[in-house]
Amino acid sequence: MDRSKEWVMNEIEKISHFGKGPRGITRLAFSETAAGAQKYVISLMEEVGLTITIDQIGNIIGRLEGKDESLPAVATGSHLDTVPDGGKYDGVIGVIGGLVAISRLKAKGKLTHPLELIIFACEESSRFGCATVGSKAMAGLANISEWRKAKDQAGLSFAEAIKQQQLDIERIGEAVRPAEEIKAFVELHIEQGRVLEKEEKKIGIVETIAAPTRLKIKVEGVAAHSGSTPMEERRDALVSASMIILAIHEIGLEQSKYGTVTTVGMLNVYPGAINVIPGVVEMWVDIRGTNHESTIECLQDIKDAISTIAEGQEVGASIMLLSAEKPVTMNKDIMSLIKKVCVEKRVPHQMIHSRAGHDAMNLAYLAPTGMIFVPSQNGVSHNGEEHTEIDEIMSGIDVLTETLLQLAK
Ligand code: GLV
Ligand code: MN
Ligand code: MN
Ligand code: MN
Repeated sequence: MDRSKEWVMNEIEKISHFGKGPRGITRLAFSETAAGAQKYVISLMEEVGLTITIDQIGNIIGRLEGKDESLPAVATGSHLDTVPDGGKYDGVIGVIGGLVAISRLKAKGKLTHPLELIIFACEESSRFGCATVGSKAMAGLANISEWRKAKDQAGLSFAEAIKQQQLDIERIGEAVRPAEEIKAFVELHIEQGRVLEKEEKKIGIVETIAAPTRLKIKVEGVAAHSGSTPMEERRDALVSASMIILAIHEIGLEQSKYGTVTTVGMLNVYPGAINVIPGVVEMWVDIRGTNHESTIECLQDIKDAISTIAEGQEVGASIMLLSAEKPVTMNKDIMSLIKKVCVEKRVPHQMIHSRAGHDAMNLAYLAPTGMIFVPSQNGVSHNGEEHTEIDEIMSGIDVLTETLLQLAK
């Protein structure tokens, strides 16, 4: 079958129906909805003639043998899980684009190296607070003790959720792949920012991927009657939490000169009733940056601000560091190769930093790794309005195809 522009558009649309809601697509990691999308994409992979294996964290690996089965594979891929009310393109274009690239290369006859399309499990941190789980497990970077503690909003543990998908937390170690098995990894992804659009470029060649540092903060005040407790006697945990959020925002603004950003994206307020002064607030903080020193400074400033606010407001505040990753630089040879392909194809391109996290940052510990970005309309992502023009996706697929060919031929 010709995997044309229409085919790509059609498949992106079909995949978007798994989890489609009024505001966007909700296909959370290890959910039945994600499993439905995976099953559908496996059928597409089988049509291309890929041999499918699923590892012990739920990564799906589709392989096309080359002339020499003993040689390391040239791999591409991305993810199918989404944030709540996410978009159609985040992750999906790397999966569908990778599939199109491999089917085009298959049509050229056997290459020297095997090719692999990998669909990584649980790239998004929205369900369990842990990001790029599948690629971490594959690269031997799994933090199983952390994952054991993780629960979703419904209170279901990570271990129980993966068990529902016939996976066993005790066996995650089996997902590790030796570095010798992979020659290179290249991920196609939407930019999720506005740089390419502003610069009128079609391709971004990723240089560094920003690393997330995540915190959970618990503010403890005193739950009390909202009518009978005088204003000056309150120890309202949500008021203190609000002050902390503003401080975190200010610190992010201050550090943004180094490209560092801070977000509080989730709050739990207890007991959560209109007539009760909030006694406890849990909040989650996401710090991202490509400058490690700035991230460290940001973290220290946040800790200092929390102590000052807690003391002034006479509330308790505890900070739990959930993860602290380092920015990852992509492989120089792969960056040069992608650049050469862009020049040859006369595609307007530029070097770019990734401000979002990606599976590529873990694969980089396993094999020479690179990323190809295509523009995101208005920079919108993690939102149902996410959009990339089909011609831009196709040009990303062209660059990916040629890059994989050069690596695998
Ligand atoms: C992945 O989408 C991230 O949160 O960076
Ligand atoms: Mn995402
Ligand atoms: Mn993504
Ligand atoms: Mn990503």
